[in-house]
Amino acid sequence: MTKISINLDKNRAYDILVGRDNLDTIGTSIKAMNIGESIFIITDSKVGALYAKRLIDVFKRAGFQDIDLAKFPNGEKNKNITTYSELMTKLAKFDGSLNKNILAVNLGGGVPGDMGGFVAATFKRGINYVQIPTTILANVDCGIGGKVGIDFNNIKNLLGAFHQPKLVFVDLSLLKTLNLREIRAGLAEVVKYGVIEDPSLLLDIGNHLKDILALNLDAIEPIVTKSYRIKARIVEQDEKDTKGIRMVLNYGHTIGHAVESAAGFKYSHGESISIGMVCANDIAGELGIFSRQEAERIETLLSKIGLPIKIANCKLADIMRFLTHDKKSVNGANRFVLPLQIGKTEIKSAIPQELIKKVIKKRMTNSPSILANLSKSSK
Ligand SMILES: NC(=O)c1ccc[n+]([C@@H]2O[C@H](COP(=O)([O-])OP(=O)(O)OC[C@H]3O[C@@H](n4cnc5c(N)ncnc54)[C@H](O)[C@@H]3O)[C@@H](O)[C@H]2O)c1
Repeated sequence: MTKISINLDKNRAYDILVGRDNLDTIGTSIKAMNIGESIFIITDSKVGALYAKRLIDVFKRAGFQDIDLAKFPNGEKNKNITTYSELMTKLAKFDGSLNKNILAVNLGGGVPGDMGGFVAATFKRGINYVQIPTTILANVDCGIGGKVGIDFNNIKNLLGAFHQPKLVFVDLSLLKTLNLREIRAGLAEVVKYGVIEDPSLLLDIGNHLKDILALNLDAIEPIVTKSYRIKARIVEQDEKDTKGIRMVLNYGHTIGHAVESAAGFKYSHGESISIGMVCANDIAGELGIFSRQEAERIETLLSKIGLPIKIANCKLADIMRFLTHDKKSVNGANRFVLPLQIGKTEIKSAIPQELIKKVIKKRMTNSPSILANLSKSSK
């Protein structure tokens, strides 16, 4: 197993353990850490059907006697207050039946990760939790860093908190059941790390795409561990996103989140970020700070992966409306992470609305085939 540590102050440091076929060891690892006596597993319907029973057995074998399982329907549209309330009701009931510290264990992609993390952050002002990420996207991004939250009024992550996990436990073999659409979506965040920090990731994807899409773990493991290391170093320097360092992780997310909401979550998070990245590149191009040649290199890679670089099925006015909710805005002025070159970015404020509209409009198409093709790969 590879261990990557996140060094944070005051009891908030934790490890990411990356292995294969290692799920059976999580019970004993957690027992040894002494971070909770009873286990509350939070997962979605799809991941739960695949792996919850196995996980419960692992905890039983490690000696945990009180284990409860809470499942909610899969998908971003359920990362909402209704699901949160249902999970809290179940957790409160479980808590009332015990007199023991509860450890929340979030099993799944970014949706159970964000949701379970938020439940853990807010139940009794914070209980311990562990992440078991099961998508590439959750592995490279949302499994770590402590940003947890839910969508509200269709606005992405409007309710949230900072609450670091006690452990991130990765069994890469769990990725084997992902469909092609989810694999591709996860790669969007890896491309992000390539553009903001480490161009070698773009080469890794380009050179090994066939193997990555076929879920060859020898090809996937290096990009996952490289991405974890990048995010860990960024989070260590700016845990609460107050110093302008962590903001770099939002490259592609300003317009990406607005598209995700405006399209009613028809595009997955990774697909929306793909669109958001090409739009950010276009803005940087219009401002004369990023070359067309480099922008095309990124676009070509995203297309090769099978990610969208055009926007269908949503309205410009809706995207612009959701953009006003962006959490990066300060005193009403927007802020964008823009590339200067592959591997280097800058934060730019107060980008004119007309320029943003122009860039988004150029990316819009009426072609219904975009979503149809994406859906075909979700089997
Ligand atoms: N907190 C953060 O720092 C952070 C960072 C990036 C993204 N996010 C959030 O993450 C979410 C997106 O994550 P996601 O793409 O993992 O979404 P997701 O959790 O909805 O997973 C995508 C789909 O894959 C299925 N799935 C998950 N694991 C599987 C497996 N092993 N086998 C088969 N199917 C599986 C899920 O049931 C779901 O249908 C968004 O809500 C986004 O806002 C958070």
